[in-house]
Amino acid sequence: MTRYAHVTGWGSALPEHVMTNKDLEQMVDTSDEWIVSRTGIRERRIASPDQTTASLAADAASRALKTAGVHPTEVDLIIVATSSPEHIFPATACIVQDMLGATKAGAFDLSAACTGFIFALNMAAQAIRTGSIDTALVIGAETLSRIVNWQDRNTCILFGDGAGAFVLQGSNEPGGVLEAVMHADGSGADVLMLPAGGSKIPTSPDTVAHGLHYLYMEGRPVFRFATRVMAEAAREVVEKAGLSLEDIQWIIPHQANIRILEVAARHLKLPMERFVVNLDRYGNTSTASIPIATTEAAAQGKLHPGDKVVLVGFGGGLTYGAALVEWTGPFPGHPEVNPERYRLWARVRSAGLRLRRKVLAAAGREQRLGG
Ligand code: ACO
Repeated sequence: MTRYAHVTGWGSALPEHVMTNKDLEQMVDTSDEWIVSRTGIRERRIASPDQTTASLAADAASRALKTAGVHPTEVDLIIVATSSPEHIFPATACIVQDMLGATKAGAFDLSAACTGFIFALNMAAQAIRTGSIDTALVIGAETLSRIVNWQDRNTCILFGDGAGAFVLQGSNEPGGVLEAVMHADGSGADVLMLPAGGSKIPTSPDTVAHGLHYLYMEGRPVFRFATRVMAEAAREVVEKAGLSLEDIQWIIPHQANIRILEVAARHLKLPMERFVVNLDRYGNTSTASIPIATTEAAAQGKLHPGDKVVLVGFGGGLTYGAALVEWTGPFPGHPEVNPERYRLWARVRSAGLRLRRKVLAAAGREQRLGG
């Protein structure tokens, strides 16, 4: 029996604090006029000190689970796509798994910069299609404000914080994630990167003094790359599915720069009205931008069951890709769930497990000393 991976839940989490272009004028030599005309961005959200990539991811995931009517303990797999993980390891996805109380889920992070959500969606859909798993949470989450140099006007004006999540569920009914394409061009690895803090350039006083722990980007080559590959990937995924662009109701692109989207629309010969755009309010939230935009489009009633939607992105790596999704919505007859409230129980469970680990470690120490 052929299995299909349907998008049955979606949700987003955005920090309350809004940073406008006017605010940025106070921080670096820039202007609202420059930022709007070169990027289309007017404001972005910035995480509060108590918010992290994992907490935003867990908030978005809880909302997605509620929409789908899926209890956290039913989730088989959690993939967090992120460019600003909590740590190099452990995976942010494991921290999210603990926060949600998703007791049976495997969890890992996926690193493909802004294309990460597309790649993660494809991986989860493949796992469902093979019958290996039945229910997955795919999350894009970022606190890019923590890795941006707030004195570098070339980059700090672009990025924002936030998270978005999809619930994927298996079914024998056709639909869901129909096709995906994934590409990389590692010869461009050096034009968009976080230079230090990995194994090649470990963190040292010197790397900090030179600002190598901040996001580094050469804007123009990334811009040229993006304008070429966005239309290319969208066209490729549609053709791979045996469809044409006329069959597509919505393009939901990575929200990097309005000029990039306008070029892609021109190449695809599609009007901008077919593109979901919200970068004016959130800036570039990297892996989170596509699920945040999808959640907004769904809330605005733009997405209907049966609609064909192309999700398309590009990013550091360099990477690019696209997914073609037939929109489903929650499965009929799904139960009411409250994943947000369940997180209280998850916290108690986590504290219990930590305590048990400490007690066992102390007992082991005593035994060793006694022996
Ligand atoms: N305010 C005012 N002036 C600025 C600013 C600013 N914030 N930033 C740069 N400038 C200046 C530059 O110094 C330059 O001045 P110069 O000509 O005297 O040297 C001038 O403006 C033009 O700079 P460009 O870099 O040529 O400007 P451009 O039109 O290319 O726009 C931008 C820059 C917006 C960064 C554009 O190149 C772009 O969008 N690139 C793609 C970025 C992107 O999408 N990144 C995705 C990252 S995805 C991920 O994986 C994280």
